[in-house]
Amino acid sequence: MGLAWGEHLATGIEAIDDQHRELFGRLNVFLAACDAGQGNEELLGMLQFLDDYVVFHFRAEELIQEEYGYLDRSRHRQYHCMFIDSFTSLKRRFLIEGPTADLIAEINRFTIGWLIDHIGEKDREFARSVLSRSR
Ligand SMILES: [Fe+2]
Repeated sequence: MGLAWGEHLATGIEAIDDQHRELFGRLNVFLAACDAGQGNEELLGMLQFLDDYVVFHFRAEELIQEEYGYLDRSRHRQYHCMFIDSFTSLKRRFLIEGPTADLIAEINRFTIGWLIDHIGEKDREFARSVLSRSR
């Protein structure tokens, strides 16, 4: 199962939309490699590559929110922290269990579900606020 970026997920902030597409790309590469039965070492490298990008991307959003004085930024930051916490424990499980079908399904379900909800609602909400201030 892949993750497709679509206009319904567009925030209207070009840099952020580009980063979301990159994020989906990295996630899809990882999920496809899991399906293809790639080795643990390789999968773990991809998971780390994905994680690094998530951290970079969340920080980029938070900087824009600070710059524009987005009122709900501390709550938005908490959503990001919660994702990182869950993702970190999935990564830890991966280190212990390896790419079991259950764990891959869990990573798939959690990351895709979270990203679609978060981008579709929370990111679009902050982007609306930022874009209305920058006009
Ligand atoms: Fe966000």
